[in-house]
Amino acid sequence: MVTMKGVVLAGGTGSRLFPLTRVTNKHLLPIYDRPMVFYPIQTLVDAGITDILLVTGGHSAGDFLRLLGNGKDFGLRHLSYAYQEGEGGIADALRLAEHFADEHPICVVLGDNIIEGNIIAGCEEFRRAGTGAHIFLKEVPHPERFGVPVFESGRIVRIEEKPQHPQSNYAVTGFYLYDTTVFQKIRVLKPSGRGELEITDLNNQYLAEGQLRHSVMEGWWTDAGTFESLLLANNLVAKGGANKVGAVKAGVRSREASGKS
Ligand code: G1P
Repeated sequence: MVTMKGVVLAGGTGSRLFPLTRVTNKHLLPIYDRPMVFYPIQTLVDAGITDILLVTGGHSAGDFLRLLGNGKDFGLRHLSYAYQEGEGGIADALRLAEHFADEHPICVVLGDNIIEGNIIAGCEEFRRAGTGAHIFLKEVPHPERFGVPVFESGRIVRIEEKPQHPQSNYAVTGFYLYDTTVFQKIRVLKPSGRGELEITDLNNQYLAEGQLRHSVMEGWWTDAGTFESLLLANNLVAKGGANKVGAVKAGVRSREASGKS
C-alpha cells in the first residue's frame, strides 16, 4: 500500500470556548506546556506519518505558520497548510485535503484530540485491510457530546451524532483513517441540521458499504473544545503526559499475551 498522509483539522470558531477564542484559534490555546495543536501532530508523527497537512481558517491562520514553521519541533522538514473559508464543518474542511492527498490514504486528526498513547495498532489494521475506513472508539461517561456508535450483535449498524439518548457508552474519537474514495463520498454529503457537512455522515457512508472497521483506543482520550474538557486535558497531560508511545504499546502486548481482547 502507498504511504499514508496525515491531515490535522484545526479550523472552526471555537465558540464553545468564548471568550478564550475571541482573538485566537482554539488549537493555539495551551494544554499544560504546549499549544493544543502540538498533540495531534505528535500523534501522527508517532504513527510514522510525516507528510502532514494542517487545515485552518479565520483570523489567526498566520499564527500557525509562525508557531509550527516547517515542523522542526516534530523532527519534520516540511509541513503543508490549507485555508478554510467560512464555517462548513469538519467534512467540509477535509475537502481541502484532496489535492494534498493525491490518491494516498489519509489519517485525519481533529486538532483538539489528545491521547495518552498512540494509534499505531489501528493504522496497521487499516494498512492490512487495504481499503475502507477505520475509526477509533473510546468508552466515555457522556457519550451524548460525541458521535456514538449503535451496536447490534457486536457490529456497528450506524453512528449517531450527539444523540440525546446514546445507544452505547462509546464515543467516536477524532482520529479517522480513510481510503482514496473519501473525497467522492464528501461530494455527496448534505448539510446537517446545524448546516455543516458532518464527519459522522461520511463514516455512515463507509458503514453502508460494509467498509468501516473500528478499534478501541488504549489509554485515556479527550477532546478540548469545552471548558470542562479543556481543563481535563490540561490536568491529564500535567499529571502523566500525552503521546506516551512505548508505555501504551506495552499495555496492548500484555493483554494480548493474557489472551483477552
Ligand atoms: C466532532 C465530531 C464527533 C466526534 C468528536 C470527537 O464533534 O462531530 O462525531 O465524536 O468531534 O472529538 P465536535 O467536538 O466538533 O462537536
